[in-house]
Amino acid sequence: MVLIDGKAIAEDIRRELKEKVDSVRKQHAKVPGLVTIIVGDNPASRLYVNMKSKACNEIGMMSKIEELSADISEEELLQKVKQYNNNTEYHGILVQLPLPKHINEDRVIESISVSKDVDGFHPVNTGNLMIGKDTFYPCTPYGIKELLKRYDIETKGKHVVVVGRSNIVGKPIANMMLQKKEGANSVVTVCHSAANNLSVYTKQADILIAAIGKANFITEDMVKDGVVVIDVGINRIEDPATKSGYRVVGDVDFENVAKKASYITPVPKGVGPMTIAMLLVNTFEAFTKIEKV
Ligand SMILES: NC(=O)c1ccc[n+]([C@@H]2O[C@H](COP(=O)([O-])OP(=O)(O)OC[C@H]3O[C@@H](n4cnc5c(N)ncnc54)[C@H](OP(=O)(O)O)[C@@H]3O)[C@@H](O)[C@H]2O)c1
Repeated sequence: MVLIDGKAIAEDIRRELKEKVDSVRKQHAKVPGLVTIIVGDNPASRLYVNMKSKACNEIGMMSKIEELSADISEEELLQKVKQYNNNTEYHGILVQLPLPKHINEDRVIESISVSKDVDGFHPVNTGNLMIGKDTFYPCTPYGIKELLKRYDIETKGKHVVVVGRSNIVGKPIANMMLQKKEGANSVVTVCHSAANNLSVYTKQADILIAAIGKANFITEDMVKDGVVVIDVGINRIEDPATKSGYRVVGDVDFENVAKKASYITPVPKGVGPMTIAMLLVNTFEAFTKIEKV
């Protein structure tokens, strides 16, 4: 069994990007810029935004956190986004979700310039993903694809079973693996909570992608020998033995499923660290396209 080390791969990606950023700075006297817009003071959102900003700075990209009050109107937020659409210093715009209830998230996402939508959530980009055109892949699914690629895991003709159909993980990764492209070209099955007898599907998986949000949900009896397991789940469970009183586990019962797997991602240090790394990749990509460098 090979443990897929997402932390190490994410570090490789950041190092590679830092070299690219240094090089464009020298050649063109410009660097990629990412603005992250946060509305209100949700502690989890704040933590994510700070991590993204720090990651940008570490590789020499420019980063700004635009902090807006929780009672900002939808119109004011749309104006802010528009302002950054027209700002030539920022090549990527990310609006941290969730937004307060009085703001229509879809309208806000749709207001982001398609060419700066580094989260890949704009409907034009999701549509382009589906029809196999050039687009920004959403960061977590993009991270999964990159892990498969960097571990030389064959995907062509393989049966990829995705459990979960969210717009941020399940649906995009299913669409990405379906494309007639290198690193994809798989036969894809998507499962969700209405599936009768889920293990009928999961047992057929050559590559199983679990994006469910339920601790240790995928058990040993649900997979076949030699399966490649990608665990997207991040779940807190109580653990009196730890200082914090909890620990983080995935959607897969790692200890037992690992015995049957050929490759498996751990939680933490599997898919998790890839998300920010791929956000940086998308921001660099946006920069090269916008600046034509
Ligand atoms: N950076 C990262 O590593 C990262 C990024 C994003 C998410 N995550 C984690 O990944 C997990 C999934 O996130 P998400 O945003 O995709 O979650 P989500 O929006 O809650 O979607 C969960 C999906 O799982 C399906 N599901 C729930 N119970 C099921 C069951 N008993 N059998 C089969 N399918 C079932 C749901 O089906 P229905 O559609 O029928 O409800 C839904 O499609 C979470 O733990 C989240 O924290 C990690």
